[in-house]
Amino acid sequence: MCGIVGAVSERDVQGILLEGLRRLEYRGYDSAGMAVIDAGKTINRARELGKVAALAEAVAETPLTGNTGIAHTRWATHGEPSQINAHPHMSGDRLAIVHNGIIENYQELRTELKADGFEFTSQTDTEVVAHLIEQQYRKPDINSLYDAVKAAINHLRGAFALAVVHADEPDHLVVCREGSPLVIGVGIGENFIASDQLALLPVTDRFMFLEEGDIADIRRNRTQIHDRDGNPVDRPVTRFEHNADAAEKGEYRHFMLKEIYEQPRVIQATTEGRITQTRVLEQALGTKAGNLLENVRHVQIIACGTSYHAGMVARYWIEDLAGVPCSVEVASEFRYRKHVIQQDTLFLCISQSGETADTLAALRQAKKAGFRAAMAICNVPGSSLVRESDLVIMTQAGPEIGVASTKAFTTQLTALLIFTLALARHNGLDEEREAEIVQAIRMVPGQVEQMLALDGKIAEMSQSFMDKHHSLFLGRGAMFPVALEGALKLKEISYIHAEAYPAGELKHGPLALVDSEMPVVTVAPNNDLLEKLKSNLEEVRARGGQLFVFADQAAGVRGEEGLNVLEVPSVHAITAPIVYTVPLQLLSYHVAVLKGTDVDQPRNLAKSVTVE
Ligand code: G6P
Repeated sequence: MCGIVGAVSERDVQGILLEGLRRLEYRGYDSAGMAVIDAGKTINRARELGKVAALAEAVAETPLTGNTGIAHTRWATHGEPSQINAHPHMSGDRLAIVHNGIIENYQELRTELKADGFEFTSQTDTEVVAHLIEQQYRKPDINSLYDAVKAAINHLRGAFALAVVHADEPDHLVVCREGSPLVIGVGIGENFIASDQLALLPVTDRFMFLEEGDIADIRRNRTQIHDRDGNPVDRPVTRFEHNADAAEKGEYRHFMLKEIYEQPRVIQATTEGRITQTRVLEQALGTKAGNLLENVRHVQIIACGTSYHAGMVARYWIEDLAGVPCSVEVASEFRYRKHVIQQDTLFLCISQSGETADTLAALRQAKKAGFRAAMAICNVPGSSLVRESDLVIMTQAGPEIGVASTKAFTTQLTALLIFTLALARHNGLDEEREAEIVQAIRMVPGQVEQMLALDGKIAEMSQSFMDKHHSLFLGRGAMFPVALEGALKLKEISYIHAEAYPAGELKHGPLALVDSEMPVVTVAPNNDLLEKLKSNLEEVRARGGQLFVFADQAAGVRGEEGLNVLEVPSVHAITAPIVYTVPLQLLSYHVAVLKGTDVDQPRNLAKSVTVE
C-alpha cells in the first residue's frame, strides 16, 4: 500500500525522506520516489521501480539536496508498476505531488486537461491531480499553492491524501486528507508529513492528525489547517507514547493482549483508502480488480487455521451479498484430493504470513489446474503468497507476534468484507445496501473499542473456566465460524479442550456431553437467528449446563441460574462476526493467564507453518 513522507526544514531533507520510506516498507509497495526543491528553486526528482534501496542508491549517486521535499512508495492501482508511473508526479517542472488513494473521476479530468493542453507521461490518476492543481494555480484569482490545491480538490471524487510542492513557493508543503490518512509531524523549526506516524519517529514524537476534509499549509515554523468548509482549525498535538518498535510489548503483559488491543487501529487501517462514506473503491483493490471480479461465477477459498475461519465467515457474506457460490476448504485437504473446477472460479487464499506451506502448495496446484485467477488476502508484503497471486489485498495488521492469531483475523475479515462488496457490485448489489454496509464497516473500530472496555468483566468470567477440562462453543450462521475461532483460541493457549458446533447441531450429539463441568460459550447478536439460538440455550440449561453468553443488549437474553450474560453493544448483523470475535479472544487470553500457560508461544505450535 502506498506511503507518503514529506519535510520542510532548514537542513537537507533527503535522508529524512529516505528513512521515512524505509519505515513504510512493511506496507508493501512496488516503486519509490522523491522530489526535493533545491536552493535554486528547481525541483529535482528521482524514481525507481522496486525497493527503497534502489532509490537510495540512485540518490547516493546523484543527491537531491534541498530543504523541502516529498517522497512516496507506490502500490499500483492505475497503471502497472514502472518508473514512469512511480510518484512524485509533476506538472511541467514546477509542481510535484505524491498521492495515496484513488481518484475515481480521473478519466474525465484527464480528457479535460488534455484539451487544455496538459501532456501526460504516465497512466496514473495522480498525474491528473498534478495538472489539475497547476491549472488552478495559473488562474488569475488564485494566489497561492494552497488556494490552488483547495480549488482542485473540489473537482476530485474518491479517497485520497495528497502532498504537493511548488518551485515558486519553495518553503511550503500543502497537504490534504480525504479518505486516506495523513499526519503532520511537528518539529522545532521544521515540520514533516506522512501517511503513518511510524515513518517520522526518527525526527519527532509530536503529531497532529488531520481529519477528513482538512487541508494544511505547512512551513518550517507555521502550520495552518482549514477544515472542509474553509474554517481555520487547530488539531491537537499528541505525543507518540509507544516504543517505536512494533515488535515490543510496551505496556502489555503479552504480545497477544497488545495485538487484541491494536484491533481498532488496524481494522481502521485496513479500510483506509478502500472505502468512501458510501462505497468500496474497487481500484484500491488493485489495477486488475475490475477485470478479475467481472464474471466470477464461483469463489474457492483456501486457508489454514484461523485464516480458514475467516474464509468460513466470508462464505456467508459472499453468498448473501454477492449471490456467488463459495466453497471453503482447508489447504491440507484441498491439495490432496481431486476437485471439479467450476467455470470462472476465483481462487482465493487467505494467510497471515503468506508462507504457510499447505496454502502455497494449494495455490500452485490451482494455478496449474486452470482457475480463473488467484487472489490473496495476506498480511506480509513480499511473502510468497503475495508474489505468486494475481490480485492481493493486504491486511494492515502490522507484525503479529503472538502465535494465536487475533488482529490478523479481524483485519482479514475486514478485507474480505470489502472484497465481497466489490464482487457484489458486479452481481447486482444495490447502492443503498452497499452504503449501509460501508457505514457499518466504518463503525467497527469504535465497536471493537466498546468490546475492549468489557475486558474487566470478561476477566471475571474467565475464572469459571480455570478448572475445567472441556468446553463447547455454539453459534449460528456467520457466527458459527466465530464460535470455531473462539474454541480454537481457547484450546491453543489454555490447553482446555474446546469444540465448536453450529447451535442447531447440538441435539445431534454434543448435548450428551453437557453437564455442570462443561461450560458452553455462545455469541448472540441480534440477528434473524436469535430466537432459534435462544431455544438452543434453553436446551443446554435444561441439562444443567453452564452458559456464558455474549448477547446484544437489545436481544433480551437475561442472566439467571446457569445463564451468565454479558451484554454487548448492538452491531450490524453483517459486521457482527468481526466485533463478536473480540470478547472471545479476551476470554481465552484471561483463562490462559489464570492457568499460567505460555500465552504468546503455546506449546507445540508455530506462528508460521512453513512445512507440511
Ligand atoms: C499457524 C498459526 C495460526 C494460523 C495458521 C495459518 O497454525 O499458529 O495462527 O492461523 O498457521 O497461518 P497463515 O499465516 O497462513 O494465516
